[in-house]
Amino acid sequence: MTLSNLAVRDIETLVHPNTNLAQLRETGPLVLERGRGIYVYDNEGKSYIEGMAGLWCTALGYGNEELVEAAAAQMRKLSFAHLYNGRSHDPAIELAEKLKEIAPIPISKVFFCNSGSEANDSQIKLVWYMNNALGRPKKKKIISRLRAFHGLTIAAGSVSGLIYNHIDFDLPLPGFLQTGCPHHYRFAHDGESEEAFASRLAVELEELIIREGPDTVAAFIAEPVMGAGGVIIPPRTYFEKITQVCGKYDVFVIDDEVICGFGRLGTQFGCQALNFRPHSISIAKALSSAYLPIAGIMVPDIMYQALVDESRKIGTFGHGFTYSGHPVSAAVALKTLEIYGRERMVEKVLAKVPQFQARATALADHPLVGEARGIGLMAGFELVADKRSKAAFDVAKGVSGRCVSLAEQEGLIARALPGDTIAVCPPLIISPQEIDDMFDRLGRALDRTLEWARRERLMTL
Ligand SMILES: Cc1ncc(COP(=O)(O)O)c(C=O)c1O
Repeated sequence: MTLSNLAVRDIETLVHPNTNLAQLRETGPLVLERGRGIYVYDNEGKSYIEGMAGLWCTALGYGNEELVEAAAAQMRKLSFAHLYNGRSHDPAIELAEKLKEIAPIPISKVFFCNSGSEANDSQIKLVWYMNNALGRPKKKKIISRLRAFHGLTIAAGSVSGLIYNHIDFDLPLPGFLQTGCPHHYRFAHDGESEEAFASRLAVELEELIIREGPDTVAAFIAEPVMGAGGVIIPPRTYFEKITQVCGKYDVFVIDDEVICGFGRLGTQFGCQALNFRPHSISIAKALSSAYLPIAGIMVPDIMYQALVDESRKIGTFGHGFTYSGHPVSAAVALKTLEIYGRERMVEKVLAKVPQFQARATALADHPLVGEARGIGLMAGFELVADKRSKAAFDVAKGVSGRCVSLAEQEGLIARALPGDTIAVCPPLIISPQEIDDMFDRLGRALDRTLEWARRERLMTL
């Protein structure tokens, strides 16, 4: 395989995040050059449907001139101002006001940062700080779920539950605990209903809290739908039962809406689709449709009052970033929220969901697909060697990676997730025709993967 000049320069210069670096030296990267609507184009001019909205984030697609203009106008007016030491600027104030208005739970304030990882890291720091302020310094342990993904800084990586994010990074840190993954297809017992599985997971969580000591457990963090862990939709009644256990032991509940927020599941926030009532919320990605990095946490009053009390006691609230609430990012996020509202984005997503999910569900009949699962405008397809026994492929065979390469050949960017799951999560602006086109391309990639897997004798059926 001959690599393009840019690919060679890439290999000689970049350390890629979340990538098999040895393999990349052989295959080279896919170098993208431009984008328009739901399409991106590589450096050789080939077009692809961006079936992953970048990394679950480019909700309004590419080339949105209003967002470009919002950034340019703010750069001309005030390209930078910070929020340290009591400084402020109107894009951050207006954005916080807007977020308070649309929040799905009562919130008091918004803390801005730059990435989903920073948001979740900040959540953890704020919970620790709050519990010190509240005079319970032992209450510090954080519980997350196996196969969760909450980012890759040290604390966010500690609450993530994927093997490659821990192994040889010496993570998780002490004090970070994990409870069961709510994936019915893989982890329910034979004949166990979704409700019974949810009850069992709630009992497991309660046992963990009791074993550790409720006075040492500070918070529980969850994504409404697990994205990077494999598009895992929790079983019916899951969040009601889990949050009830947290309530019983005064465990603060953090909702990571980094993927699910702003319309992805057909609701403004993912928690609204799943009957999930958290205490605080992390937001990022579609907040600015990924035109610029911006993230935040929606802070409830109990937490805010604790922060203010600490300032009365010890002075400065010593957390934050140079670019917390960066004015250009904030102006772009404000424009993004304005577009979502004006275009009635949630209603438009809802109107497209039946077609999207019908096309996704139809792939459950494919011989390679053990489970086709989805909600809103996201779906995952778990590839198996044997549909009847649910036998997985040997990870070393790289079946989902092969499928993603074949999808690229078909002009579709999809993503291989743990458990040989192929995910799609296109920009929310995708049209009905484009949805059909995307699933046609995915179907062809699956057919070609199946032919290859049969040739390689990987199928046990
Ligand atoms: C649910 C969730 N939380 C947090 C993150 C981390 O976000 P970032 O990569 O912006 O740090 C991600 C990234 O995909 C995510 O999916």
